Amino acid sequence: NTIEKGSYTWSSPSNIALVKYWGKKEHQIPENPSISFTLNECKTITKLSFSKKEDNTGFSFEVFLDNEKKDDFKPKIETFFKRIESYLPFLKTYHFKIETSNTFPHSSGIASSASGMSALALCLMSIEKALNPDITNEDFIQKTSFLARLGSGSACRSLEGDLVVWGKHDEIDRSSDLFGVKYPFEVHQNFKNYNDTILLVDKGEKQVSSTVGHNLMHNHPFAKERFKQAHSNLSTLINVFKTGDLKAFIEIVESEALTLHAMMMTSMPHFILMKPNTLEIINKIWNFRHKTGSNVCFTLDAGANVHVLYPENETEIVLEFIKNELVAFCQKGEYINDKIGFGAKLL
Ligand code: PMV
Repeated sequence: NTIEKGSYTWSSPSNIALVKYWGKKEHQIPENPSISFTLNECKTITKLSFSKKEDNTGFSFEVFLDNEKKDDFKPKIETFFKRIESYLPFLKTYHFKIETSNTFPHSSGIASSASGMSALALCLMSIEKALNPDITNEDFIQKTSFLARLGSGSACRSLEGDLVVWGKHDEIDRSSDLFGVKYPFEVHQNFKNYNDTILLVDKGEKQVSSTVGHNLMHNHPFAKERFKQAHSNLSTLINVFKTGDLKAFIEIVESEALTLHAMMMTSMPHFILMKPNTLEIINKIWNFRHKTGSNVCFTLDAGANVHVLYPENETEIVLEFIKNELVAFCQKGEYINDKIGFGAKLL
């Protein structure tokens, strides 16, 4: 099969980890299994246009973000292409134009690597599928997740919804270090349409790139215990998802967020990625829960922004609480109302 030219457009969401991936081996193999909620509103839309070129000596591509040429994205994509070249033999035979945009503001401190890399992997796999129409849907998703992982680890968890596991775990049969899989067990009604309101506390550039961050786990004094803990937290969550035990969910999710930051505070060199307002928000959430019995809780990425998680039936009271008490701690009062989503879409 040969194809002269064409284009594909995919939208792919971001995700928020409940059990965190922090620490990797060579070839983007995670040190521990992780699980995430796929998001619904925060996503990247990427159009990949391709046309046959004369020679096939090197990679040829240009990148646009919101219609503006972005040469500073090129090294990251070049590295990605090198890593996946052996799995997509056509990479050097086409010239590519990558046009991308995010639904969330780019200087929001929200990482666009998961949604961005998964969207690009999907576009590339669409070419692979056009060249090899026999690829089944299941193989398509699995191979795309495998490729997305080589772009950015957490990107392999963004293709499907609503819960995705990445990394080998004893109790999850098909789980793999090489790609994400849809969470295969029963999930209680309590977790349906779970909300995630993202409070933008600090919209600046990431203080620690995730490459640097993951490397801090090499020779980290607490690494071994941490990796073990991730396995056991995921085991506990399996039961929590089945029974709908929201209190147990909160315990695990908040502990995971604080542990991620504790790992950064106790590595060499060390970092404090939370801001004073991050702590103000956490305390407000704890007070509110104590006062009202609400099931609102928080999680964090490798930054100062706070993801506020809460069940669907508390939407009204928690949104009211966020507006009255938390928005004051956001930069320019900005936040994003998101919730669990169901994965990427071909447009
Ligand atoms: O996918 P990376 O290399 O950007 O790492 C993401 C790490 C965390 O967001 C902090 C945790 C996670 O599991 O998503």
